[in-house]
Amino acid sequence: MIQLEHLTKSFLLGKETINVLHNMNLTIQEGEFVAIMGPSGSGKSTLMNIIGCLDKPSVGKYLLNGQDVSGYNDKELARVRNHSIGFVFQQFHLLPRLTAIKNVELPMIYAGVSKTERHERARRALDKMGLTDRSNHLPNALSGGQKQRVAIARAMVNNPKLILADEPTGALDTKTSMSIMGLFKELNEEGTTIVVVTHEPEIAEFASRTIMVRDGSIQPTARKDWRPTS
Ligand SMILES: Nc1ncnc2c1ncn2[C@@H]1O[C@H](COP(=O)(O)OP(=O)(O)O)[C@@H](O)[C@H]1O
Ligand SMILES: [Mg+2]
Repeated sequence: MIQLEHLTKSFLLGKETINVLHNMNLTIQEGEFVAIMGPSGSGKSTLMNIIGCLDKPSVGKYLLNGQDVSGYNDKELARVRNHSIGFVFQQFHLLPRLTAIKNVELPMIYAGVSKTERHERARRALDKMGLTDRSNHLPNALSGGQKQRVAIARAMVNNPKLILADEPTGALDTKTSMSIMGLFKELNEEGTTIVVVTHEPEIAEFASRTIMVRDGSIQPTARKDWRPTS
């Protein structure tokens, strides 16, 4: 589903070029649940932004569902994001003036779904997240865990095959974090490919594979199901 080939990302800062990602090669199959770990500043968010079509590689190829999206323009990338990818962020990124259900409806507005269907699908997504009785609350009136559930409902409402979450539990307590990860696990079991960035090993435990990023490079992978024999 995701294939990065010799991917490099650099930023121009004044006159200086900063190389953030170096010659990355990475394949993620449809249906996987992958955790990305690594120290702060190692390039995890930069990598997620490219995987999420929010940014483009400087050099190299990115194939998403077999399509080379590295050469897409902004409009084409926006379309791919809206149809194929759901996003969840550490700080939730809900619109403060919209109720929970209106926040969940947003991606469907961009996708051109009719008003009645929007409402119905948003309602079902919130039900699934256990937020039936919170749908008319503003984000302000919700706890961190509830806000993140709204964000997950919003991420899944267009039925994307891929959900990307950049430190989705970074602002939550341990118990809430575990329940949020449980929701990702459920979505994964229903067939959605999930990629989660995290600092915490207990969070990465939910994934079936962990990728370590250091200084903009992917470290040789160790599979969770692999254990030394002595
Ligand atoms: N738009 C940008 N311009 C310049 N440097 C950037 C930009 N985005 C990220 N960086 C740099 O790239 C490095 C990796 O950042 P990031 O991907 O956010 O790391 P992580 O998510 O692993 O903490 C950092 O040194 C950061 O300062
Ligand atoms: Mg980051």
